[in-house]
Amino acid sequence: MAKIIDGQRLARALRGGLLARAGAIAEQRGAAPGLAVILVGDDAASAVYVRNKIRACEATGIQSTCLRFPSTVSNDELLATIALLNEDAGIDGILVQLPLPPHIALDQVLEAISVEKDVDGFHLYNVGGLVTGNTIFSPCTPYGVVKLLESENIAIEGQNVVVVGASNIVGKPMALMLMARDATVAICHAKTRDLAQFTILADILVVAAGVPGLIIPQMVKTGAVVIDVGINRLPDGRITGDVDFDGVSAKASCITPVPGGVGPMTVTMLMENTIASAERGLVRDDRSAENLAFQE
Ligand code: GUN
Repeated sequence: MAKIIDGQRLARALRGGLLARAGAIAEQRGAAPGLAVILVGDDAASAVYVRNKIRACEATGIQSTCLRFPSTVSNDELLATIALLNEDAGIDGILVQLPLPPHIALDQVLEAISVEKDVDGFHLYNVGGLVTGNTIFSPCTPYGVVKLLESENIAIEGQNVVVVGASNIVGKPMALMLMARDATVAICHAKTRDLAQFTILADILVVAAGVPGLIIPQMVKTGAVVIDVGINRLPDGRITGDVDFDGVSAKASCITPVPGGVGPMTVTMLMENTIASAERGLVRDDRSAENLAFQE
């Protein structure tokens, strides 16, 4: 039977350290790290995610501000709001909850966010930085997966990794982050023919397809590490992942449950990025103070 990787427990452990770092920042500059969350429209899942993020802020000593807009909000109003937040010294991180309504120019909105405050890691600079190794903030879900693998001492270098799902938020950055750690990575997606011929080769299988029960035991190599990023709501209201958990558990060496696996880590990495942003701000402030002293 596979070992169950407890994301909830790791997230809780990490949050203790984050709270201490947030406290140190508050002491040094007289204000807690600040996260602004922009929520547009009334998508039920988005509302739940945002509520979880705000709760996690409370648990880690981050001051959160939630700005809600109706789904009819204009592109210009969103851009103007982001411009104000970029200039606001009390805000270290800006997050625009996705999806946005179709009339909003998503790329424009994401690129309006200051790279220094892009704690979701969705700005083109941070996306490109994943290729070159210059990223400031890594996107939270793949970052959380890397932390889970590291916490279990699972080797990444030289391993065959298969990522199922090629989204901008999870699949593509996940593949780049694991390539940066010298894994051999294949990305599969909805158009992949005979998915199983790829997944069966994986030492580490990361599944982010949004299809409940997509991965069955016959598709998994004995002893593989299986990371389930899927969050699907069943007709009876239960949440389930993309992996047949009971079947695949009998074959894998380690597996993440849903809920309680990757999900809590995603939110925790958002807190990590926000606190790291505030710490970077303090270093910047110190440097400009030193430069001023030098000029005097
Ligand atoms: N919608 C689904 N996942 C995410 C995420 O990680 N960040 C944001 N901003 N929106 C999302």
